[in-house]
Amino acid sequence: MPDDAAVYRLDDDRALVVTTDFFTPIVDDPYQYGAIAAANALSDVYAMGGTPLLALNIAALPPNLPFEVSAAIMRGAAEKVREAGAVIAGGHTIQDKEPKVGLAVVGMAHPDKLLTKAGAHPGDVLVLTKPLGTGVITTALKNGKADMRHVSEATGWMMRLNRAAAEAAGAAGARAATDITGFSLLGHAGEMAAAGGVTLHIVFERVPLLAGARDYAEQWTFPGGAANNALAYECTVRFAGALAEEMRMLLFDPQTSGGLLVAVPAAQIDVFGAAMEARGAPWWQIGEVGAREAAGIVVHGAES
Ligand code: CO
Ligand code: CO
Repeated sequence: MPDDAAVYRLDDDRALVVTTDFFTPIVDDPYQYGAIAAANALSDVYAMGGTPLLALNIAALPPNLPFEVSAAIMRGAAEKVREAGAVIAGGHTIQDKEPKVGLAVVGMAHPDKLLTKAGAHPGDVLVLTKPLGTGVITTALKNGKADMRHVSEATGWMMRLNRAAAEAAGAAGARAATDITGFSLLGHAGEMAAAGGVTLHIVFERVPLLAGARDYAEQWTFPGGAANNALAYECTVRFAGALAEEMRMLLFDPQTSGGLLVAVPAAQIDVFGAAMEARGAPWWQIGEVGAREAAGIVVHGAES
């Protein structure tokens, strides 16, 4: 299965990391939409252990969109790229009824320090760097049912770069990571399990959830992608212990600009934690990597 970005080795010390991503509006504010689209596109470079160098804007915008709105979208993207230490080197815009915005990104990584889906080893600690629930919360927003405090917290997380997580993973000598996006925690974790020939053990109570996510899950405000993810990935997961159906579904909730799932060598977990704390970035230890079993993922509930 493909990694988060394409890698082109230049020499012994340098590899190009190349990726693209774009999507339709996820929040109402145009500046925040641009910033989230940029953070999400940059994320696949971080998920490979790379550093973004330059980006190209990709935009499809309605011809009747007010200039201030398109300018705010582009400003949100540009400021996020600048925060990542990269530059926008151009781009292309076309007209389309439904807006779509994103980036093509070129980054650099050391070929021996790449984070791939295949690099997890039994004994590694599983770390997640953003809470889950952006799918249920943005769906509740679309349905007019969301508490705006929940939306603004979720927006803050979606705008957050995965830079600190990538740097901490590098400092700790981690070799496996992926970013949690549309295929959900269990979908992306399943890819890591399959690629690495390991089984990931996840403890539900340790998985961080956004404020409000449980409430919207109980009201079953899941986006359509959650059911698709459950259908596609359920067969790779064993639920050990009781877990309500809506809580299982939260683990299949498609994420936008989600955090990194990193397999950190157990002896290096303090180095990882110190590097995250030095960057003011939270993280959660959600489980561990084990030898391959029949299921690629085992989700442990309260009493298992
Ligand atoms: Co990715
Ligand atoms: Co992507």
